[in-house]
Amino acid sequence: MRNILITGGAGFIGSHVVRLFVNKYPDYNIINLDALTYAGNLENLKDIEGKSNYTFIKADICDYKTINSIFSKYKIDGVIHLAAESHVDRSIKDPFSFAKTNVMGTLCLLQAAQNYWEGDFNNKLFYHISTDEVYGSLEEEGFFTETTSYDPHSPYSASKASSDHFVRAFHDTYSLPIVISNCSNNYGANQFPEKLIPLFINNICNNKPLPVYGKGENVRDWLYVEDHAKAIEIIFHKGKLGDTYNIGGFNEWKNIDLIKILIKTVDKLLGRKEGASEKLITYVKDRAGHDYRYAIDSSKLKNELGWEPSLQFEEGIEQTVQWYLENEEWVKNVTSGEYQKYYKEMYE
Ligand code: NAD
Ligand code: DAU
Repeated sequence: MRNILITGGAGFIGSHVVRLFVNKYPDYNIINLDALTYAGNLENLKDIEGKSNYTFIKADICDYKTINSIFSKYKIDGVIHLAAESHVDRSIKDPFSFAKTNVMGTLCLLQAAQNYWEGDFNNKLFYHISTDEVYGSLEEEGFFTETTSYDPHSPYSASKASSDHFVRAFHDTYSLPIVISNCSNNYGANQFPEKLIPLFINNICNNKPLPVYGKGENVRDWLYVEDHAKAIEIIFHKGKLGDTYNIGGFNEWKNIDLIKILIKTVDKLLGRKEGASEKLITYVKDRAGHDYRYAIDSSKLKNELGWEPSLQFEEGIEQTVQWYLENEEWVKNVTSGEYQKYYKEMYE
């Protein structure tokens, strides 16, 4: 029996991780702790909410007293920490909330684990989920490896880099058993439509302008979210204590080429004429401090733990577009209210 605390489990990636663990490991108690910010949505977990090995707790990772009491109440012996403020554009407008949640929240969890485990680290693990953005930006050539120096540029990536440093510091200073993974851009069902892929799918469906930052030439390395969840499962069980694993699909796309694939797929599935929505492409002011290229070398994860992405990109994109088209109600719910205000401030 294991009692695993998953933070941020109501968000995009977290919900896929929670589902995988709850369904695959009936002898694990999965405790999903999430503050349900604008990005958290319990609708993402409707299918598993009644399972006997699943508990949801609404709490803030920065609430140190509550976090300590949760460790003792649920006898937590494993942590998979995903809760974070995750959108770069929001971090440019409000860096403080990123420092608070991503840095202080991670520190609260680390200290609570340290308090509860009291130096008995047998079968304990603190697994921190991070991003490739901590490594900075690449030129045309090369990849981020686990030994690439940190060089974050946005308040978001600076806060994630800082949290990674705290996690390693707890390992080096107190021997806390930790592992970290740094993943590339995820896509798939349940992603909040502030990020490129779901935002653009929604706008194409509604014939709204597609705001391409700069010249659309920035490059991202895309991974299907369920492949990320499977990598997390493997690293949680087999990762070497104190180590870092990069996760990515060797799947680089220039934004503008990816956007054209999205247009083609949505138009096809909606029965529109091929390329009909290309007229929606609108070049807008570039993102401040926009990283040019991310590309992950995930060969350590493949060679040491045997993980490989399972899905071809075109297939993953088609499944993702299909999901958004079939889940209009989900999209409607998350794009009402506060989202409208955000959209106006960002794009109008
Ligand atoms: P998300 O924004 O969709 O979800 C974040 C979740 O954390 C939400 O459910 C939110 O309610 C919760 N949360 C936020 N602040 C909280 C707080 N103070 N206390 C408790 N819960 C809180 O994010 P995501 O895209 O699913 O990313 C999850 C993690 O993976 C993050 O740590 C992110 O940095 C990392 N990551 C994301 C990507 C990506 O492409 N999305 C890639 C690599 C790494
Ligand atoms: O690399 C991993 C990271 O990927 C994660 O750590 C972050 O949590 C996640 O948000 C993502 O960051 P990006 O900034 O790369 O993702 P985003 O979807 O915001 O943007 C992808 C690219 O598309 C980027 O080059 C900016 C561009 N873009 C984005 C938006 C929202 C546009 O051109 N227009 C837009 O409206």
